[in-house]
Amino acid sequence: MVAQGSTTPNPSLSKEGNHAAILMRRGEAEDHEVFARNVRLVEWNAHSQRPVGYNGVRSKMATAVLNTLPELYVGLSEQELEERIAAAKAELGSRLVILGHHYQRDEVVKFADFRGDSLKLSQLAAARPEARYIVFCGVHFMAESADILSADHQIVMLPDLNAGCSMADMAELEQVEACWEELNGATGAKIVPVTYINSTAAIKAFVGRNGGAVCTSSNARKLMEWALARGEKALFLPDEHLGRNTGYRMGIPLEQMAVWNPREEAGGLSGEEMRKARIFLWKGHCSVHLRYVPQHVERARRAHPGIRVIAHPECSWEVCQMADEVGSTEYIVKRIEESPAGSEWAVGTEIHLVNRLAAEHADRRIIPLDDCVCMCSTMYRISPQHLCWTLESVVEGQVVNQVEVEAETKRWARVALERMLENS
Ligand code: 13P
Ligand code: SF4
Repeated sequence: MVAQGSTTPNPSLSKEGNHAAILMRRGEAEDHEVFARNVRLVEWNAHSQRPVGYNGVRSKMATAVLNTLPELYVGLSEQELEERIAAAKAELGSRLVILGHHYQRDEVVKFADFRGDSLKLSQLAAARPEARYIVFCGVHFMAESADILSADHQIVMLPDLNAGCSMADMAELEQVEACWEELNGATGAKIVPVTYINSTAAIKAFVGRNGGAVCTSSNARKLMEWALARGEKALFLPDEHLGRNTGYRMGIPLEQMAVWNPREEAGGLSGEEMRKARIFLWKGHCSVHLRYVPQHVERARRAHPGIRVIAHPECSWEVCQMADEVGSTEYIVKRIEESPAGSEWAVGTEIHLVNRLAAEHADRRIIPLDDCVCMCSTMYRISPQHLCWTLESVVEGQVVNQVEVEAETKRWARVALERMLENS
């Protein structure tokens, strides 16, 4: 494929300062592709000045921005898409497994063989060696984790490679290495790193090399306890909020959790603050879950007295403190599924999951914690058109949108992921 272009952000096209235009010239072999008049919007990572999901490992992300949905898929009706996806799935049979995260939209997740949270899906990817093709309907770091955990003969695909995660992009390897050096030098303590699975493969590999482990929102507490049993302090990456919520539930006072801001000299911490801290929280966040604020909890309770508030631990500490329950997406699904008819829930997580739970349990009141449209826009990039294209390409013997982590990064990231699987 011959394609060239500039990846310079175009402020006039930016949305919430987080999008950029990718200008591209068509290559000869790309006549069949839609380039939307040679301009495409991709999620732009303001921190790294690269497309979201790009992390410098050989995940084909560098060419991903040129890997565009062929035009013929754009005009397909819902019915046609449904039939073609079902036909491709039938043709591929057990050679294919489709994994769908809970936040995925209904039109896509209905084709998933398995639905789950990050932990469940990464375990499933590791447990299905018979499937040569793993199509991950989620975001980039999830597909990377599947590639890391799956066998060498397996191929992992993300139907739209622009489906990144802004939180994962908030911790870059060079920044984390600088932080590590500074913290070790200043404290002289044994520090064990733990990274949320919502991080790039490069960060997982860093953690693996330095005696640490990955965690998900389901097992963050276990892994944090594991880390603090091995060292005097833990460095938690890249979600400040999951880290704080987890540490606090373990009984660690807020004053013993110090936020490391990679944009400030020495992370913005004094030597005394570094020595005092038991947990260092990387200053990263999920812009989706941070939309929920304490006033939403108050409003939901005023409007529906007696309603139970259940929040994802990526929400702020204040929201989690006010909630009746806090848990991962899988926990939220299980709690609501097991609740009796007539129960009332205000749910602080991504809107597609909340709406699906409401539709599947019409005998309960299930509402989003607030109608602030808490939607993961990158997850939403996976469309039925992209899924259809990915599957039909495989049927025709061509792999598109492969996510492939470079060997050395994979080796150490796997160590960190396996430590998690052994301890969850
Ligand atoms: P879990 O699926 O681990 O609950 O995480 C939610 C999320 O934000 C995924 O990106
Ligand atoms: Fe990333 Fe938040 Fe979307 Fe999860 S919900 S993929 S953490 S941006």
